[in-house]
Amino acid sequence: MQSRILPGLVLLLFAAACSAAVDADSPDTGIAETRSKTPLIIAHRGASGLYPEHTLAAYEAAIDMGADFIEPDLVITRDGHLVARHERYLSRSTNVADLPEFADRRTTKTAGGQMREDWFVEDFTLAEIKSLRARQPYEGRDTSYDDQFAIPTFTEILGLVAITNQTGQTLGVYPELKGPAELAALGFDVETAILDALAAADLASIGAPVFIQSFHPATLRSLDTKADWPLVQLLPATTSEKLTPETIAAYADGIGPWKQVVMQFSDGPEAYLEMAHEAGLVVHTYTYRDDVVAPGYETIEDELSAAFDLGVDGIFTDFPDTALAVRDGASPD
Ligand code: G3P
Ligand code: CA
Repeated sequence: MQSRILPGLVLLLFAAACSAAVDADSPDTGIAETRSKTPLIIAHRGASGLYPEHTLAAYEAAIDMGADFIEPDLVITRDGHLVARHERYLSRSTNVADLPEFADRRTTKTAGGQMREDWFVEDFTLAEIKSLRARQPYEGRDTSYDDQFAIPTFTEILGLVAITNQTGQTLGVYPELKGPAELAALGFDVETAILDALAAADLASIGAPVFIQSFHPATLRSLDTKADWPLVQLLPATTSEKLTPETIAAYADGIGPWKQVVMQFSDGPEAYLEMAHEAGLVVHTYTYRDDVVAPGYETIEDELSAAFDLGVDGIFTDFPDTALAVRDGASPD
């Protein structure tokens, strides 16, 4: 089969080897089953449209709604604990700037490739992080929960996943390592931290699905050599990295493209999905938001329906209740 490089990203002609490898070598994550079932609803940062993102309240709300996965972004504390934040810096999503005891912790570092003056998680112990409270970072969303909820550890989130699965509800966890290269340069081994946490949670034995996602191919390649968890290569709108079908397929089990990369693909979104599926890769598109509908759609329901009709295998959304209603109405089992 010929491989083909697509503009903006590379889609992968990978034959069936990826699916076979997942079935044979991975924990029982359900990845093989997801391809033929209804698309997964991945609660992006929890039910973050309703509660401050990456709080237990946000994750619990998503679980109550019936989301298939909760999605923690992970960074690390000075004393080596993975905690859920979308960025290494804290001012966007917490009350840190209002706490005088941490005023001298403000500093300038590189974050996401840009210099930024802020407070950084890796400069705080877990005990100090636990003294902060989360805030709603998105304008227009409910701020009534601000300063109520603590920042959870990955271990606490995994505990929530385990407890939920013990009730009979199948819930997966879809962690993303944020800034792994920058943290490695600062001396933190986040790959070992995430693998140790997952191993300690023993999720495979209770049947809780897992995907590990990253924008960083080097991180995924490294994880692929260390463990058998299904891996998803996130794909931004544009990338300078020359990812070929063969190189991605060598380490990942799925792709997580920005939704508009799929919908605006030059040969049509169907061609994009077909090529990914021919390669044996699941496709989980991001991020669907009730309060920010993509151009070309009148409502979020229209946008979600288009994705589901196209045949995506999962979607990341800040509003899992809306996506579940559309999915279960549009594609009943
Ligand atoms: O993780 C999936 C996708 O939403 C990536 O975007 O920036 O929200 O982590 P981000
Ligand atoms: Ca993420």
